[in-house]
Amino acid sequence: MSLSNKAPAPLDMDNIPRHIAIVMDGNGRWARKRGLPRKAGHSAGSETFHRAAELLAELGVEHMTVYAWSTENEEKRPPEETREIMGLLERYLKKSVRELTENNIQLDFWGNTAALSPKLQALIAQTDEISKRCTGMQVHICMNYGGRDEILRAARALAQDCAAGLIRPEQIDEKALESRMYCRRTPPPDLLIRPGGEQRLSNFLLWECAYSEFYFTDVLWPDFDEEQIRLAIAAFQRRTRRFGGLTE
Ligand code: FPP
Repeated sequence: MSLSNKAPAPLDMDNIPRHIAIVMDGNGRWARKRGLPRKAGHSAGSETFHRAAELLAELGVEHMTVYAWSTENEEKRPPEETREIMGLLERYLKKSVRELTENNIQLDFWGNTAALSPKLQALIAQTDEISKRCTGMQVHICMNYGGRDEILRAARALAQDCAAGLIRPEQIDEKALESRMYCRRTPPPDLLIRPGGEQRLSNFLLWECAYSEFYFTDVLWPDFDEEQIRLAIAAFQRRTRRFGGLTE
């Protein structure tokens, strides 16, 4: 995916969202419509992810966060589908280890990665090492992730620090909680995109999305191409953000 001259939606390059979060939904339906197994949808979805990351980096987006696999997916989907997603991630990371420096993109993982296979954990560690040398867009891949779980883990860490006398209960504020969350070094998403027709968060970035603008579309994730990305950003640019205040 590259920036073409015949772009459908002209964008205000001075108002590109710093952080875009995406729920990559609709892979299964995309495959079913073509009489293919679900794994073909996930495979097409991972290619869309790769192209979208390149395009967002070209547009100057600083952070992209994607929902790849949730704590609920892990519990409720057949083990075979979990294996397929882990296989896709493994292939993607092997490729990324070669290409990351070239693209100057940093990758990091949000979620319970300690529960992933030793092979994936080793690849993630290798990716982290390489990412430290990159200075471009940061891509946060939510894997085995749940928004409630993220908040719960931070609350537990705070309770432990309280018990250890490192912080007093009256010192606990939003900053203290957030400093124990995956998002601690990332600005909140300006724009959350959910393709695939559903209009809900599904336990994604519950804390972070307090003031994000939401963009929903029926287009299925594997079909989410450059035109769709531009349409989503153009919609964002038409919104008035008030953050609880008043419009001037
Ligand atoms: C939701 O579609 C999609 C997922 C649960 C998995 C998304 C994962 C990928 C795109 C691959 C991740 C890989 C990398 C490299 C980050 P669904 O299966 O729920 O679709 P449906 O609602 O149409 O059934």
